[in-house]
Amino acid sequence: MPVSEEVISALIDLKRTDDAGLVTQLTGQLRDLIASGRLGRGRTLPSSRRLASDLGVSRNTVTYAYEQLAAEGYVAASHGRRPVVTVDGGGDRLGAGAAVVRERSGKPRLSPWALNLKQTDWPMSYQASLRPLRPGHGDFREFPDEVWARCLRRNAVRAARRELGPVNRTRLRKVLADYLATSRGVRAAAGQIMILPSAQAALTLIAATIITPGDEVWVEDPGYPGAAAAFRASGARVSGIGLDEQGMQRMPGLAAPKLIFMTPSHQHPTGRLMSLARRAEFLSLSRPGKTWIVEDDYDGEFHYDSRPVPALQGLDAHGRVFYVGTFSKAMTPDIRLGYLVAPPALASTLEIAQRHIGLIASSHIQEALSEFIADGHFLAHLRRMRRLYHARRDHLVEELERQLGGMLSVEVPPGGIQLVARLKRGRTDQAAVKRLVAAGVETRALSSLAVGRPRDRGLLLGFAAWRESEISAAVRTMASCF
Ligand SMILES: Cc1ncc(COP(=O)(O)O)c(C=O)c1O
Repeated sequence: MPVSEEVISALIDLKRTDDAGLVTQLTGQLRDLIASGRLGRGRTLPSSRRLASDLGVSRNTVTYAYEQLAAEGYVAASHGRRPVVTVDGGGDRLGAGAAVVRERSGKPRLSPWALNLKQTDWPMSYQASLRPLRPGHGDFREFPDEVWARCLRRNAVRAARRELGPVNRTRLRKVLADYLATSRGVRAAAGQIMILPSAQAALTLIAATIITPGDEVWVEDPGYPGAAAAFRASGARVSGIGLDEQGMQRMPGLAAPKLIFMTPSHQHPTGRLMSLARRAEFLSLSRPGKTWIVEDDYDGEFHYDSRPVPALQGLDAHGRVFYVGTFSKAMTPDIRLGYLVAPPALASTLEIAQRHIGLIASSHIQEALSEFIADGHFLAHLRRMRRLYHARRDHLVEELERQLGGMLSVEVPPGGIQLVARLKRGRTDQAAVKRLVAAGVETRALSSLAVGRPRDRGLLLGFAAWRESEISAAVRTMASCF
């Protein structure tokens, strides 16, 4: 018998102790109600807000369940509207759990993964060519192109004679294990290191391997949107955790989630450094096999004010940390190489996933990079860039103070490639960014990096990629805009 909207929640019984996540349970029970005909074609389901409040679950849980039912063709959902049942139940045609294949006027039917990604999309790269003070870049005009080209050429020529070897080249794994141990305090056997096309690829691989839809994931707020997107796409419920002066805050009242994503070396975007004590607190929160930590050390090579704090991964004695790095910042973005240091218990599973998703870097580029690092070119480049970026950070801070001190307050990061300048009053940061872009200065709005409601307004300004004269000119333009 059809049921009214009011009693839908009464027919749903979610078991919090059940192994199946809340999203899976809710999706299954709604699917059964539709398949049995109790929720007939044309029936409008309650709003996600209302059902979430009736059931005492988060709104995301209901949203994900509705998206899944829409992807399977049981309901039609469009943004801002309540979902409507689109199938006739009651007969044998729709046994519980049966996949419903319905063609809807030529609209491609996307997987939940793609639907989730579309909802959390954010502009990973900008359309226009690079302009001051775009954040997130090192200065690739300073990269030793000729040296790199020689490494590439030697290895490209050899590659023609080589058989296909392991997807993660042994030599690069060893060279990287040594480099990470001495410079970042990472403790890893070469076999734990996966060479990938980017840090983002590492996040996707981790999400695909350990996230079950409905799992709770914590990310920093504000934080790196690429991480939230990768975990949401896999069906995780992503919560933003606010920051204090050490970056991500401890949340003693909350149950530990499945995964915590953090950037402890230089919190993205604020650049804050997490103390050893805070790192140890997070490690004590994580449980082998239950709560994982993903440490994204995207620009950990660049520290200016003090000796670098060793990686969290190196403090972990129980194999609970994924360590992620990239060569996009330290070398050039188009090199398309990053890496993942896997917890020992997951290394072989991750390598299978890596092969099947096809996240494999070409072997001659891996060999060229081994040579570039082993011959000392990488460290020499880093040393030079550290000096240069340090001076550029100080120059940007001075210029902002001198020309815009009344409007902006600057948070000086101890390292990294970008800084946050907060708007003291008045405008929204998004409006300020638009105005600045029109005048030729590129920045990112701090509020666009918020996970929930933005707590802060400000501008994310890159300093590493820009010469001092370019920085001065950009700040002059900013002053004329404000
Ligand atoms: C915190 C953080 N992690 C990862 C990445 C992505 O690095 P990749 O280009 O290797 O995907 C970025 C890029 O901006 C970043 O800011």
